[in-house]
Amino acid sequence: MNKERWNARYREESYAYGQEPNVFFKQWLPQFEPKTILMPADGEGRNGVYAATLGWQVTSFDLSSEGRAKALQLANRKQVDLKYLVGDFADIQFEAAAFDAIGLIYAHFPTAKKSEFHLKLHNYLKPGGVVIFEAFSKHHLPYQQANPSVGGPPNMDVTFSMAEIEAYFPNYDTLLLQEEVVNLAEGKYHIGQGSVVRFVGRKSS
Ligand SMILES: C[S@@+](CC[C@H](N)C(=O)[O-])C[C@H]1O[C@@H](n2cnc3c(N)ncnc32)[C@H](O)[C@@H]1O
Repeated sequence: MNKERWNARYREESYAYGQEPNVFFKQWLPQFEPKTILMPADGEGRNGVYAATLGWQVTSFDLSSEGRAKALQLANRKQVDLKYLVGDFADIQFEAAAFDAIGLIYAHFPTAKKSEFHLKLHNYLKPGGVVIFEAFSKHHLPYQQANPSVGGPPNMDVTFSMAEIEAYFPNYDTLLLQEEVVNLAEGKYHIGQGSVVRFVGRKSS
């Protein structure tokens, strides 16, 4: 979807993927000491705001200004700070090794940009830093066809395989890498069974 479609979705009153963090992110993030975390494609901020409530210093970004507005409202309600930039990842730059963690939750980037974006993310992470990742897998299409409410990108090229994750985050200490079928209950747009890739890895020191 393009920026206008995301803005239209986030202009709705309810939170598209809910106000609660993603279950996998919530399971893993508390296992690490809160420092700095980058949240690419943070949408309406459910995950970035959650990280901030744990004491992380959060930098989020997304294409959508409407997403940012909802994220800042959520941060305000939870009484936490969130630094949230609006822009395309192609135009957003950070210093190398700027972050202690990166949370990638349903961050499906355009096929032509996928490798480049993940290489950038790898460079933004400090040695010893962690990636927490969940997104739809290459096997998600039948689940989406059977139940459109589970959501997922219209173009399966932007979904992930475990091999891709190993290529994007090379020589990481893998704490978990698996493809599995999960039951999603996230807001209005991720409801039902879907196939996802989950990854938690630590960048080599
Ligand atoms: C499925 S939503 C997930 C939002 C959030 N991570 C969550 O789990 O609630 C995907 C998000 O990716 C963002 N996005 C897609 N392409 C992007 C790009 N090139 N640069 C920045 N954000 C992008 C969209 O605006 C959208 O908010």
